[in-house]
Parts: sequence; structure tokens; C-alpha cells
Amino acid sequence: MKNIILTGDRPTGRLHLGHYVGSLQNRVKLQNESHYDEMFIMIADAQALTDNADYPEKIRENILEVALDYLSVGLDPKKVTLFIQSEVSALTELTFFYSNLVTVSRLQRNPTVKNEIKLRNFEANIPVGFFTYPISQTADITAFKANIVPVGEDQLPMIEQAREIVRSFNRTYSEVLVEPNAVLPKNELALRLPGTDGNAKMSKSLGNCIYLADDTETVRKKVMGMYTDPNHIRVEDPGNTKDNPVFIYLDVLASDEDFQKFLPEYKNLEELKAHYEKGGLGDVKIKKFLFQVIERVLEPIRERRKYYEQRIDEVWDILKNGSKHASEIANGTLKEVKSAMKINYFEDEELLKKYQERYKD
Ligand code: TRP
Repeated sequence: MKNIILTGDRPTGRLHLGHYVGSLQNRVKLQNESHYDEMFIMIADAQALTDNADYPEKIRENILEVALDYLSVGLDPKKVTLFIQSEVSALTELTFFYSNLVTVSRLQRNPTVKNEIKLRNFEANIPVGFFTYPISQTADITAFKANIVPVGEDQLPMIEQAREIVRSFNRTYSEVLVEPNAVLPKNELALRLPGTDGNAKMSKSLGNCIYLADDTETVRKKVMGMYTDPNHIRVEDPGNTKDNPVFIYLDVLASDEDFQKFLPEYKNLEELKAHYEKGGLGDVKIKKFLFQVIERVLEPIRERRKYYEQRIDEVWDILKNGSKHASEIANGTLKEVKSAMKINYFEDEELLKKYQERYKD
């Protein structure tokens, strides 16, 4: 069996450090390990429109930003196909056919959709497109016969629902579709990076993100203003490292080499944590260290971004060619799907003969 990787993001804003540790880093690693036959990364503009119907300009603005973020973290267009969802029209056709295999009550039980409906205060005014986006996401995945789908934890119910649709399709018609598997980041802590304000999630709407495209001064300001342990008032006070976003970021990002380079008084994070917990270690010192660590991560990303910012036409071609290639693959699957569903009328010469037979006197 082939190993096909597919994943994507809604282009509702620039990507941030949470995206980086939670998924982008993992994608680059997958890309470079080359234990796969093909890898696709999709800018999910059609999905983003399911709850932004009256705000298409926001989506349009962010297509390029997300593409630049992808390229700047090191996704290589020679190894992966980057494409735009709405350019692949087979996806909407697949969605329409799969929707016959899903019940309203099953969609209502999808925990991710349930949660998102609550977050958006849709109540009785849920757009049908939003409600059914798990079906469209199944089309995204199955059109490429992806068996590996690297996602964040919140997407697990989506993948589960996709697996059910695949099984139902294959049972009802024939074995055309491939069941996908979710791949979560290995580092538990990276599943969800908290915001700089201590909120459980880094999120654009909360204004607590460090963006991959932030410049050095912006990063410095954000890090130096980060929420820490509110009870660690004086330097001598014992501090809490557990619910402290500064330490959570260090847990995810800091290496022993970072200590050697930027904070050689400590061998590693354990030593630093022990000192903070005992008391006598000020927040400013740790924040300065964290700033250097984040800069170490962001510098190469910024360099690559600069390169592509000077070559927007090249980025545009990457998306255009990627979308064309993705369309060809998805059209192939659509053809198989239609043939399994017996709606391939003009491809089936037997059908014409049968019809002719019917009216042969
Ligand atoms: N729902 C995903 C998100 O919000 C984006 C997405 C759309 C996706 N289609 C996909 C992810 C297919 C993986 C596979 O992040």
C-alpha cells in the first residue's frame, strides 16, 4: 500500500508558534524523512468560508500569508504539493455524494462541530455548510487516498468520522476509498501551546499569539510581557513552573544546547525549574532566555520568508501548479467513485448496449 500524507489549515489568519510546534514542525520532519509516496498540504479556503460566508476578503487576504508561512517553515514545493481547496472542484462533488452516507444525528454528535457551534454562538443559525464540513473534510482526505493525516488533537473526531464514511462507502459500493489515520505530534506538551496571556490556547481572536512572521522587536515585547506565576511576586518567592506559560514554552522549545549558548549557569531545564520552584529566580531572566530560544527557532523561518516575500510570483506559481496537480489526482478518484456508484454513464459501453437492447423490436 502507498503512504499518502494529507493535511491542511483554514486560511483565517497568519500561522503562529502554536501551529509550528503543534503541526508544522512535524510536517517538515515527515517531509524530510521520505517514508511516503506523496505529501499534500491544502489551504482549506472552502472550509474557512463555511463560517465566514460574509467575509470572503479575510480568506482571500490570508491565502498568500499561509503559503508564505508554509514555505518559510521549510516545506519544500519539490517534495510536497501545496494547493488551494476551492481550486479542486472534484472535492465538492465527492462531498455531495458522501453526504448521502451520513445522518444528521451523526453530524450532531461530532464533538468538534458541537464545540465549534458553541464557540461561535450559532445556536439555531448554523450554516448547513458549516454543519456538514466533516463530510467535506472526508472528501479532502479521500480524494488523495491519504492514509496518514497529521493533525492536532481537536481534529480526531473529524478523522473518526472520515473513517466511518470510508467504511460505509466501501461497504455500499466497492473498495475504492482508503481509511485515514490521524498522526498527533509526539511531544504531548506540543499538542496545545498556551497563549502568552496564560489562556489555554494560542488563538488569533484572543490576541495572545506569537506569529511566525513577527519581527524581533515584536517577539521581545510579547515575551517580556508574558503571563507567568501570579504568586511569584518577589524574586525570593517560590515559583510555580507547571501552569506557567514561560516554562511550558521552554519545555517545548529549549534544548540543552540553548542552555550552553544562552544560559550556561544552568545545565538544563530541570535545573532552571528547580531554582525557580525554590525561589530566588526572577521572571525577567527566564523571559530573556525564552526570547533567545524563540529567536533561535524563528530566525531561519524569517530568513526563508524574506526570500519568498521577494518572489511572490514564484509562490503564486507553486500554488497554481500544486492545485493543478491536486486536481488531476482528485479527478482520478472521483472517476473511480462515480464508477463504483454506477453513475459513470458515458464511460460504460455496456449500458448503451443494454439500453439499445431494450428498444430493439
Ligand atoms: N479542519 C482543519 C482545521 O481546522 C483543516 C482541514 C481541512 C484539514 N481539511 C483537512 C485537516 C483535511 C486535515 C485534513 O485545522
